[in-house]
Amino acid sequence: MTSNSEIILKTQSITKSVSLENKQLHLLQGIDLTVYKGETVAIVGSSGSGKTTLLSLLAGLDLPSQGEVYLKNKPLHQLNEEDRSQVRADHVGFIFQQFLLVNSLTALENVMLPAELANNGNAKQEAQALLAQVGLSDRGSHFPSQLSGGEQQRVAIARAFITKPDILFADEPTGNLDKKTSNHIADLLFDLNKHYDTTLVLVTHDLLLAKRCQRSVEMKDGHLVDQSIVQKPLAEQNQEPHQPIINPANA
Ligand SMILES: Nc1ncnc2c1ncn2[C@@H]1O[C@H](COP(=O)(O)OP(=O)(O)OP(=O)(O)O)[C@@H](O)[C@H]1O
Ligand SMILES: [Mg+2]
Repeated sequence: MTSNSEIILKTQSITKSVSLENKQLHLLQGIDLTVYKGETVAIVGSSGSGKTTLLSLLAGLDLPSQGEVYLKNKPLHQLNEEDRSQVRADHVGFIFQQFLLVNSLTALENVMLPAELANNGNAKQEAQALLAQVGLSDRGSHFPSQLSGGEQQRVAIARAFITKPDILFADEPTGNLDKKTSNHIADLLFDLNKHYDTTLVLVTHDLLLAKRCQRSVEMKDGHLVDQSIVQKPLAEQNQEPHQPIINPANA
């Protein structure tokens, strides 16, 4: 939930252009977006509109061609890869559209990895607890090639949760899941938001998931065309009844 008016993420006039076969492609054209700490924001829009490109700039995975991106007041557009990766390690969780699990590591090791990089001595126990929360207790020793698409997605979700990031970017987090699992994962995401004030920025084609967010913004041909297509009062948000999944005492 939005707990205060602290800005966690702000972009000013960002553009992204690439050259392809001697032509300039303008993937993003002047995006201004402000996200407050604890907010839940859905980015919607048709395939190819620029959602994944935008998310990678917001998370500091890539640099804009022009414009400014501030995450936790850090000017990502001015930082080199090493400094951006430090900002990501300190503050960001990312669930990729293609999961990007490490193929040579088991499911458990994949989930443990960010916690180990952050020198968390409890990485194994926390990873096991998270695998249980995404329903994969019995798949910890499987390598990604031995998991279904939906299972890989859930491992990627557990991996993104383990550092309890300030802001979680998720690209189609429920894209490969059946309705029941998808609802469960959505509950998990919103529990994270509720218990840890984790800001959520979700790219999704799933209108039910988008509707659970406080705000939706729409991408169209590289532009952000509507910043308020869904805007709900706080009291109406996150009201889908469910048993809390994350227990802050042991998550
Ligand atoms: N590195 C690149 N070089 C050239 N074109 C690119 C590159 N990356 C993305 N594009 C193009 O930019 C556009 C936006 O891509 P992007 O992946 O951001 O779309 P998207 O909104 O996430 O789509 P989807 O819903 O299908 O995932 C697409 O037309 C894509 O073909
Ligand atoms: Mg995409």
